Parts: sequence; C-alpha cells; structure tokens
Amino acid sequence: MIRSRSFLSGTVLAAVLAATIPGSARAELPQDQAERAVETRQSVLHLMAWNMAPLGAMARDRIEFDGERVTTNADRLLALSKMLSDAFGPDTRGNDVETEALDVIWENPEDFAAKVQANIDAATALVEISASGDEGAIKEAIGRLGSTCGSCHDDFRVDD
Ligand code: HEC
Repeated sequence: MIRSRSFLSGTVLAAVLAATIPGSARAELPQDQAERAVETRQSVLHLMAWNMAPLGAMARDRIEFDGERVTTNADRLLALSKMLSDAFGPDTRGNDVETEALDVIWENPEDFAAKVQANIDAATALVEISASGDEGAIKEAIGRLGSTCGSCHDDFRVDD
C-alpha cells in the first residue's frame, strides 16, 4: 500500500512539474496570427532603425548636425520604444516563423522588459536633451540610445 501510494504521488508530482516547467507545454499560435505578429514587431524595429540612422550618422559626424531633425526623430523613437512590449507580446516560440527573436524573450520576460525600459528611458532623455540645443550633449544622448538597441540585440536577437 505504502509503496503504491508513493509511486502514485511520484507520478502526480512528475506530471505537475512537467506542466509548470516553462515552455514544456506551450500553446502554438494559429500560423497566420504568428506570421502577422512577426511582421508587426519587425515593422516597429524597421521604423526605429529608419529614425535612428540619421541620428547615428550625426553623432559620428558623418552628416551635418541638424537639431530639428534630432527632435523630430527622437519624438518618433520614444513613441516606437513604447510599442516594443506590446509588439513582442505574442509568443511565437511554438510556430515555424522567420524571425531573429530568441526564445529567451519569453523565457525571461523581466530581463526583456528591463531592456525595453532602458530604451524608453534613453529615448526620453534624448527628447529632453534635444530641446537644449547643446550639440555635444545631444550627440552623447544619441550614443546612449544607440547602445540600448545593441544591448538588447546582444541578449535577445540572433547574432548576425
Ligand atoms: C528590447 C529589445 C530591443 C531593443 C531595445 C531594440 N531591438 Fe532591434 N530587435 C530586437 C529583436 C528581438 C529583433 C528580432 C525581431 C524578429 O526578427 O522578430 C530586432 C530586430 C531589429 C531589426 C531587424 C528588423 C527585421 O525586419 O528583421 C532592426 C533593423 C533593429 N532591430 C533595429 C533596432 C534599433 C535601431 C533599435 C534602437 C533604436 C532597436 N532595434 C532596439 C530587439 C530589440
């Protein structure tokens, strides 16, 4: 009796563990929904890159500094940074999709959220500093924003 009870509880325990280990029983999204989710988040990131590119070039003195352009693009980058957490909401780990997003995004959501927040904070700082007209400080703030892109890619995007 005792032996069979402990066997049973062991089986139950194993089943409970299997159900609670993250990722072991993950629901797949309908394929069209997963593909749209990937398209959406990549679109947000494309727009971020499109707005960031001229600022990066200014910070590196590759193109002429244009304070108005910085202000405009910094506002856009701030708005886009606030879309990131929603854009990465759908968990596409279980689907066959073309993506550079690593599974750790959904395995360590707090770490990912911290990278999103760092990006929002750096964009907020750039918006504020861009109003100062202080070219040196603005270029530094552009560099800090750029490093939050790279820091998230290091941990959460497939290496190029
Ligand atoms: C919080 C994390 C995070 C931040 C911050 C971040 N990215 Fe990304 N980025 C990713 C991930 C993850 C992918 C891969 C997405 C995919 O393929 O589904 C990606 C992909 C991209 C892509 C490729 C998009 C495509 O069509 O495949 C570009 C370009 C890009 N990021 C630029 C940037 C720029 C520029 C910034 C900063 C202004 C930035 N990212 C900030 C995580 C981040």
